[in-house]
Parts: sequence; C-alpha cells; structure tokens
Amino acid sequence: MGSTSLLSSVPRRLEGKVALITGGASGIGEFTAKLFHQHGAKVVIADVQDDLGQLVSKDLGFPDSFIHCDVSDEENVRSAVDSVITKYGKLDIMFNNAGIVDPPKQSIINNEKPDFERVLNVNVTGVFLGIKHAARVMIPAHRGSIISTSSAAGILGGISSHAYSCSKHAVVGLTKNTAVELGRFGVRVNCVSPYGLVTPLTERFFEQKGEELDKAMEVPANLKGVYLKAEDIANAALYLGSDESKYVSGHNLVVDGGYTIVNPMFAMQFSAS
Ligand SMILES: NC(=O)c1ccc[n+]([C@@H]2O[C@H](COP(=O)([O-])OP(=O)(O)OC[C@H]3O[C@@H](n4cnc5c(N)ncnc54)[C@H](O)[C@@H]3O)[C@@H](O)[C@H]2O)c1
Repeated sequence: MGSTSLLSSVPRRLEGKVALITGGASGIGEFTAKLFHQHGAKVVIADVQDDLGQLVSKDLGFPDSFIHCDVSDEENVRSAVDSVITKYGKLDIMFNNAGIVDPPKQSIINNEKPDFERVLNVNVTGVFLGIKHAARVMIPAHRGSIISTSSAAGILGGISSHAYSCSKHAVVGLTKNTAVELGRFGVRVNCVSPYGLVTPLTERFFEQKGEELDKAMEVPANLKGVYLKAEDIANAALYLGSDESKYVSGHNLVVDGGYTIVNPMFAMQFSAS
C-alpha cells in the first residue's frame, strides 16, 4: 500500500491550515512541505534555490507556491509573509527551517569573521526575521504556531563548527524568549532539534552519500538499528504545527534517539555486555 492510500485512511491533521516553510526546496523542508500538504495544509515554500523550490511546489500541485526568499534579508521575509496573507488570508504555521553549515574542523583562531557571520546571518537572523514577521500577522489573529529548526548542536558542544553550534543554541534561546512574549496572544513558538541525518546539507558537509552516510551517523548514535530520516523531523513539525500540540510552547522537541542525554564514556562503563 502506498503512502497516499495509507494517508487517505487517517485523519488529515492540518486541514484548513496555511503554512510557510523556509528552506522548503530541499531535505527536511522539502519533506515537511509534502507531509503538510498530504495532511491538508496549503503550503508555500520560501527558499533561495529557485529551480528546486519551483519543482517541489509543482509536485504539490501548486506551481505558484514558491517564493524566492533569502531569510537573512528582512524585505524578502516580510514580502514572503505578506504574499501568503494576500494569497490565503492567514498564516497558521511558520516553519523557520532554512539553514547552512560551514566547513568542519576550523580552529577558533583561524575562524574568519565573515565565515562566522555568514552562518549566523542565515541560521539566527533568518530565524529571528521569520519569527518576527510571522508574529506580525499571527498576533492580530490570536493564533499561530511558529516552529524553527535547531539541532543536537544547539545542545552539545564539540559536534560542529563554532558558528553552527552557536547559531543552533541561539535558535533555542530565541524560541524560549519569543514563546514568553507571544503566549498572551495565543501564538505558540517551538523548535525541533534533530540528530544528524542524510540530506543534501550533510552529504556536502561529510562528503558521503546515502546509506554510507546513514551508517557513519549510526556509529556515534545512541539509538541503534534505525536511521533518522527527514520524515521523522517532518513528523515532529507536523505535531507542533497541528492542534494536537495546542498547549505546547517554548519547547525544544529533540529528535536524536537519546544522543544528547548520554555521556557515552560513562554509559559504556555501566552497559551490560
Ligand atoms: N541534516 C541534518 O543532519 C541536520 C541536523 C540538525 C539540524 N539540521 C537543520 O535542518 C535544517 C534543514 O537542513 P537540511 O539538512 O534539510 O539541509 P538542506 O541543505 O537539504 O536544506 C536547507 C535548505 O535551506 C535553504 N537555504 C539556505 N540558505 C538559505 C537562505 N539564506 N534563505 C532561504 N533558504 C536558504 C537551502 O537552499 C536548502 O533548500 C537546517 O536548519 C539545518 O541546520 C539539519
């Protein structure tokens, strides 16, 4: 049985909702756009990869649901949110998912300021602008769910570059701070923190592809025998975007198989052989 026929027998969890997904042209964002659409949402994709974004939007059956948007540019973000309002009259779910990484293994001493700022501009300023402009239209509506993508690197040190780790910690902080401000308007703000998974971003970063990369990610993982997939992160976003999470706000939904709660050095001492 295909996934579409399976879905036709389960309730559509986002029926009538309108979602804007940044970084929706690829990886986690692309999968989330498709899942949200299958669950009845009207989805608009905002990304800098125009060809891929248009392709995804065409796949969803809405060829004009792609907006070119650089999330680090306030006018781009403002106009993406305004286009959604013009088209659908409301914005229920904002998924601030666009993100970039920088080269691994850079010492702080050699870490150039422009490289550091490039990551912060997309991963932090981009999320800040996404939350700001979503809040602008959600506050008068007295409802809305804002979700951003952080990372296991937003919890632990030493597993990514300084800029990336810093940016993902900032996403968690921004989530908490804005959840406090926006709660009284009925607007929820949460983030999702994945462990490593295969997407174009990690394939470029680790210079490994597909199953080879899945296997490499499993080595340091806590949970064995299963690989983290984009659909798992999309499902977390689906929960946070749906009314099933109507009382969840300021939360960091960590999807890491327990990776960030264990110190493996100690765990190995106590594990039964
Ligand atoms: N893949 C992983 O292992 C992993 C783990 C933890 C967190 N994340 C985070 O998940 C999010 C999605 O990443 P992915 O793994 O799907 O990678 P991806 O490269 O497949 O997707 C990221 C998307 O963001 C877009 N993007 C980049 N800069 C942009 C900008 N300035 N404006 C608008 N769009 C922009 C890209 O064009 C791309 O389509 C990122 O925030 C990433 O940091 C990924």
